[in-house]
Amino acid sequence: MTTVRTADPSADPSAERPAGRLAGRLVGLGVCGSIAAYKAVELVRLLRAEGADVIVMLTPSAARFVGPLTFEALSGHAVETDVLGLLPDRRIGHIVVADTADALVIAPATARWLGAMANGIAGDTPTAACLASSAPVVVAPAMDGDMWMHRATRDNVERLRRDFGYVIVPPEIGSLASGQSGIGRLAELPLIVDAVVAAIGDRPVRAADPALRPSRTTPVRDADLEGRHVVVSAGGTAEAIDPVRFIGNRSTGRMGAAIAEAALDRGARVTIVAGRVEVPLPDGARVIAAESTAAMRDAVIEAVFDRRADVLVMAAAVADFRPVHTAGTKMARGEAISLELEPTEDILAEVGARARQTDPRPVIVGFAAETGSLDRAPGKLRRKGADLLVANDVAEPGSGFGTDTNRVSILAADGSRDDLPLMTKREVAERLLDRVVAALDERDGRSHTGATTREKPA
Ligand code: CTP
Repeated sequence: MTTVRTADPSADPSAERPAGRLAGRLVGLGVCGSIAAYKAVELVRLLRAEGADVIVMLTPSAARFVGPLTFEALSGHAVETDVLGLLPDRRIGHIVVADTADALVIAPATARWLGAMANGIAGDTPTAACLASSAPVVVAPAMDGDMWMHRATRDNVERLRRDFGYVIVPPEIGSLASGQSGIGRLAELPLIVDAVVAAIGDRPVRAADPALRPSRTTPVRDADLEGRHVVVSAGGTAEAIDPVRFIGNRSTGRMGAAIAEAALDRGARVTIVAGRVEVPLPDGARVIAAESTAAMRDAVIEAVFDRRADVLVMAAAVADFRPVHTAGTKMARGEAISLELEPTEDILAEVGARARQTDPRPVIVGFAAETGSLDRAPGKLRRKGADLLVANDVAEPGSGFGTDTNRVSILAADGSRDDLPLMTKREVAERLLDRVVAALDERDGRSHTGATTREKPA
C-alpha cells in the first residue's frame, strides 16, 4: 500500500484527477517573494484541477513567504529552491523542468525578478529554468503600484513581452499590501490559468514519459534489508595494455550506484566493488576500488564469502578479454601492432558455483547488457547460477550506458520474466530490490508480505 505524507488528506497528489484543459501537461510554476506568494498555493490547485502535473520553483525570498512543504504536499513533487539542487536520481532539478515542462508560469513575478529575467541573470530556479527552456512562459506580476509604474519595470516587462515572446498577465487594480489601493495586485487566478492553456495551445506534449519528467516524491521503503549485507559491483573494468592505455567500456556506474543507494535507504550494509565510475558513490557504503577484472574478482569473492554477503548484485560491466602481456613502459608509436587477448575469469559464474556450497546461500543477481534481442539472457542466467538477471538492450534510446533511465526485463531462475517500462535507474533499483527481498525471505523460510511503502519528500 502506498500512502503519501501530505498536510491535507484531500490534497493527495496521487488521487485521480479529472481530465481538464491541461490533462497530461507538465507546468513549471515559479513563485517569487511577494506577499501574493500565498495565492500561488491556490494556483497549484487550479492547475491540477485542469489536469496538469505541477512542479514548483521558489526564489529564496518566496520560500520565506510560503514554505516548500506546502507546495511539495500539494504538487507531489520536491520543490526546486536551489539552482544547484539535484533530483534523487542526480539530474539537475531546474534543467529537467526546463526541458520537460509544457509551459512555465511565473506567478507572482516581482519587480526584482522581472529585472533579473530581462537581463538573463539566473540567480534563482525560476529564472534559470526560463533561461534554459524553449517552453512558452506566462508571467503574472504583482507589486506595489509605484514599482509597477516605474520606467525600469515597464522596460523590463516590455523586453520580456517583445524580445522573449513571454505572455504577460498584467496586474489588476485593487487593495495592495501597503494598505493603499491601486494597480499591482496579482491578476485573478483563473485568468492566469486561461493564459497557460492558451500559451500551450495544441503544441505536442514535450515529455509524456514520466521517466523523463521530474521524479515525484521518492518512495521510502521500510527497512526491509536491515541486517543484510549487500555487495554491489559497479562501473566498468579496465585491462591495462601499458601504464597509460587500457581496454575499457562505456559503463559509468550509474546503475550500480543507484542500487547501492537504494539498498542503503532500505537499511542494508553495503559494499561497493567499484571499477571505473563516473558518478559519485553514495555515502555510507564501504567502497573497494578494483579496476581490473582480476582485482574485481578478488574483491567480490572476499566480500561475498569471507564477509558473508546476503546478496551480490553484479552490475559492473566486466571485461571479457585482457591483454596476455602488459607492457611495463608506455608503448611508443610505430608499426601496427596486434594485441593478444585472453579470456578473463567470469566472476559471476564463479560466485554462482561457490554459492551452491554455501549456507545460507547468497542471493545472486547478474546483469546482461545486450544489443538487439534478449534471447541469450535466460541461458546466461542458468550458466552463471544467478537467481535473477536484469537484462536490457543497451542500443535502445534511454537505456544503457550514461543515461539516467533504463528499460529492463528481470528474469528469474524459475523461468519467469518481468518486462518493466522505461524508468529511472533508481526506480529500476527499487523494483529489483523488491525481488531480492522476496528471494531472501524465501531463502530464510519467511513468508514474503510485500514491501509497504510510504513516501517522503525527496
Ligand atoms: N560478468 C562477470 N565476469 C565477467 C563477465 C561478466 O562477472 N568476466 C558478469 C557481469 O557483471 C554481468 C553478467 O556477468 O552481471 C553478464 O555479463 P555479460 O557481459 O552480459 O555476459 P558475458 O558472460 O560477458 O556474455 P557475452 O559476452 O556472451 O554477452
